Amino acid sequence: MEQFATTVANLAQRLAEILAEKFDCKSDFFKQNCLASTCYLRMNRYPPCPIPSEVFGLMPHTDSDFLTILHQDEVGGLQLVKDGKWFAVKPNPEALIINIGDLFQAWSNDIYKSVQHRVVTNPRVERFSTAYFFCPSYDTVITSCYEPSVYKKFSFKEYRQQVQEDVQKFGHKIGLPRFLV
Ligand code: OGA
Ligand code: NI
Repeated sequence: MEQFATTVANLAQRLAEILAEKFDCKSDFFKQNCLASTCYLRMNRYPPCPIPSEVFGLMPHTDSDFLTILHQDEVGGLQLVKDGKWFAVKPNPEALIINIGDLFQAWSNDIYKSVQHRVVTNPRVERFSTAYFFCPSYDTVITSCYEPSVYKKFSFKEYRQQVQEDVQKFGHKIGLPRFLV
């Protein structure tokens, strides 16, 4: 876990910097705000499911971070939305999957889009995945360097609290639309 986290932490930092080259602003934003102590790993186990057409491994969602680096085993089940349609991501344990999260979408003023994804279950085989969430500290304020800004400025803490509140109230996350100007 430690070896994986250290490796992908460096990769996430580099990828964020490269993605930010498109915008000529705040070049050290990620180094200053996304620290080893504010990012985290989630290890997922999806047991075999006798009724896969009725149960998701993970409901459709977007990630509430800047970037997610995902490693999955050979079983498969991850799907993502492209052009309004669901596509299966071909499993390849030799590859890492990089997802843009909500914070990058807000920070880039909708130039990068947070990808909607879900996990479908498998009737016979259990599946494992490991996700590294590249997150800033809670007090980091997310603003875009473009005008007019699509989203109000918000701290990561406010964002997390709003997501949690919406999940409790409505049973699902609303996410960025909550913060439209
Ligand atoms: C997640 C996630 C996908 C997977 O943990 O947010 O989307 O393949 N995981 O387990
Ligand atoms: Ni996810």
